[in-house]
Amino acid sequence: MDWSPESWRSKKVAQEVAYDDPAELAASFEALRALPPLVTSWEIDRLRSQLADAQLGKRFLLQGGDCAESMADCRAEVIVDQLKILLQMSLVLIHGGKKPVVRVGRLAGQYAKPRSSPVETRDDVTLPSYFGDLVNRPAFTPAARRADPRLMVDAYRYSALTLNFIRSLSAGGFADLHHPEAWDLAFIKHAALEPELRASYERTCRQLGEALGFMEAIGENSVDQLTRVEFFTSHEGLNLHYESAQTRKVPRRDGYWDLTAHLPWIGERTRALDGAHVEFFRGIKNPIGVKVGPKADGAELVALLAALDPNSEPGRVSIITRMGAARVAEALPPLLDAVRASGRRVLWVCDPMHGNTTTTASGLKTRGFEDVLSEIEQTWEVHDALGTILGGVHLELTGADVTECVGGASGVREEDLQRNYATACDPRLNYAQAMEVAFRIARRMARKRRNSRPPR
Ligand code: PEP
Ligand code: CO
Repeated sequence: MDWSPESWRSKKVAQEVAYDDPAELAASFEALRALPPLVTSWEIDRLRSQLADAQLGKRFLLQGGDCAESMADCRAEVIVDQLKILLQMSLVLIHGGKKPVVRVGRLAGQYAKPRSSPVETRDDVTLPSYFGDLVNRPAFTPAARRADPRLMVDAYRYSALTLNFIRSLSAGGFADLHHPEAWDLAFIKHAALEPELRASYERTCRQLGEALGFMEAIGENSVDQLTRVEFFTSHEGLNLHYESAQTRKVPRRDGYWDLTAHLPWIGERTRALDGAHVEFFRGIKNPIGVKVGPKADGAELVALLAALDPNSEPGRVSIITRMGAARVAEALPPLLDAVRASGRRVLWVCDPMHGNTTTTASGLKTRGFEDVLSEIEQTWEVHDALGTILGGVHLELTGADVTECVGGASGVREEDLQRNYATACDPRLNYAQAMEVAFRIARRMARKRRNSRPPR
């Protein structure tokens, strides 16, 4: 294979960053290249084998986190909140599906953002858009919006700090979070929730508490195992200078590994078959994700898979569909059919966020909770009808009480959005909304298990 970590440079780079000083860019690239990796090839392999299980329906992927991480938010409480929500959701999903959940955060590197326009105009001033903290700064000034390659090195450092804390917490710092009694579930009492749903959420919590209590009662060993939690990292591999500087061979192993994250993905805007991103991703050993929107056609998707996964390796590709609630029923089936006809195995993941973004009259980006749920439900129905497996969800969420998406038992209304609208990019589900999504998915998983049990 005629490939190197830098062969992407000869291809067209979608969403290319306009760095204005080649020497400064080269210096940051070399600095990054000399730094140790953030993750190891063994961890990456472990994730890949778990994703291979998920392709067969033996595990379920929960991937979630910020749309855009911000360096200013690299703080203990923010990181803890993020892990807490992923952990609590995963326990609810394990309870519903009775299968292990693979937890993958959009964190420790989710610092680069594609934008629909390279420039932003306010009044009569036009400046480069904000492309994430890895590229430039959000403030609307020429200095802040200049693409600064040193921010790549800063993003690496903040990723390392984040990951260091995640690793410590995962090793046993979550003991108290295993009990629903310690969770913040007041939203379940909210008046807007249908009684039947409320009863279902309460039942899940009660049963989960009992099950965990039982596990603990069995013995010391299981308590210890229970409090050790595995998390993996992921981000959009958008800035190929950053990704390729940390892509290398490791001793006594074949191939090249992108050691910035376990699971990098290609975005909807950068997945051109002949483009730089596909060129880069085809050569790395990591499991990879590809975001796919409603305009994709089956033949194009199959060609992409052939380029990215020529040997059809288990766990290699996750296709993350993000169609929008209004379009998924018509746009998804042809893709599932085409991939099945190609004989390839992929992990199908639903991102119910990126096809459901709207803008309020006052100009805030938001998402409706009902649209998010509806896309998950409809995606599931399409998979069930065609006999394919929905193996995971990909969400933008936070463990904090933000007001960015409207609806759900959390009770956030459009007029509440201003109260705590904190995202650096797209609107995220808040704690209550994210938990409610988990309860709904778990409910569906449980129903499905009951229906597929052989009659006695
Ligand atoms: C994202 O995941 O934040 C994103 C930009 O998604 P997409 O590529 O699907 O638009
Ligand atoms: Co986003």
